[in-house]
Amino acid sequence: MPSDSLRVGVLTGGGDCPGINAALRAVTKSLTLQHDAEVLGFLDGFRGVVDRTVEPLHYRDVSGILTRGGTILGASNKADPFNYLPRGGADVSAQVMKTYRTLDLDALVAIGGDGTMSIAHRLTDLGVDIVGVPKTIDNDLVGTDRTVGFDTAVSTATDAIDRIHTTAQSHHRVMIVETMGRYSGWIALHAGVASGTDVILLPEIEYEVETVADVCRDRERSGQRFTIVAVAEGARRKEGDYVVQERGDEYTDSIRLGGISRVLADQLREHLDTSIRTTVLGHMQRGGSPTAYDRTLATTLGTRAAALVAEGTTGVMVAVQNDAFTQVPLDEIAGKTRTVPLDDPLIASGLDVGTSFGVAVSDLSEAASHSKPASPIQP
Ligand code: F6P
Repeated sequence: MPSDSLRVGVLTGGGDCPGINAALRAVTKSLTLQHDAEVLGFLDGFRGVVDRTVEPLHYRDVSGILTRGGTILGASNKADPFNYLPRGGADVSAQVMKTYRTLDLDALVAIGGDGTMSIAHRLTDLGVDIVGVPKTIDNDLVGTDRTVGFDTAVSTATDAIDRIHTTAQSHHRVMIVETMGRYSGWIALHAGVASGTDVILLPEIEYEVETVADVCRDRERSGQRFTIVAVAEGARRKEGDYVVQERGDEYTDSIRLGGISRVLADQLREHLDTSIRTTVLGHMQRGGSPTAYDRTLATTLGTRAAALVAEGTTGVMVAVQNDAFTQVPLDEIAGKTRTVPLDDPLIASGLDVGTSFGVAVSDLSEAASHSKPASPIQP
């Protein structure tokens, strides 16, 4: 299909999140309006590139999607072309190259998280010109301070914890709220501080059950007869293991975390007589309309990705660092996870207002978690 104008493929890989459609709209409108390009949208992430399921995307196709959650193209987290699970883990990257060449694409814009950026990096080595746009509620992509979807997830989690607060107060309970985020605690940290949570447990700081129980007891003694605990799904007790919801080869990431809130509740019951309840926020955090911040972030990152493609700068991911927009080479991102550093200003502010991170302040750096344990717990 030879063509004189720029032809750009776009896909949305990995799990969905609010703001993907806003990014897709920005990429498509900007390429069409400013760069006179043809845009082709692949369905269900890299699966669409492998199977060549693709639709032309015109300006009008992306009108009205700015505020919509999810992705109009569909997504898949089982479609890594180098480990293609629909075909038993085969390497089908040759099929990707065939699609890229047959459709006569000049470049590919991949809107995705860490898995998508790692795939994009490997495809770059094979000769595909790719620009990445970072999205994930987890905010765990290296090279960017913010990912599309994070702000909305924090907002949703904050609202949920606010609601838990009032019922905790009425019933004098310990309420444990579990957030997503995989191996990083960004959502729990931000939603926890935003909602004035009493205890925040992050994967980056291994907690002590006794310390959490002490916080609950101290609050009760001082007349505050309830405690709210925000726990990230990847949190674990000192020298303990991750809590795993599900394992399976059908996912690119074979471990699905989840269930720490119930495990923590049982641990606390050994120390407390107080009534304890748990809430798992789950996929609610991935749904809904994006916040104004996520819409503007997605629009800025999307239009910058389009501009980079048009000028021929590829092999990078657009990013935001210290409030300035930039781009980062994909090889600096691939295979890495951005966790919360112990010197994050929000941890310091949390400590200043009396929030516990599940360890004595003096033990904070000693409690830093560095490695993945070998045997995760099934709740
Ligand atoms: O990466 C985003 C995320 O929502 C994580 O926070 C969570 O652990 C995971 O995806 C859940 O994946 P799935 O959609 O496969 O349940």
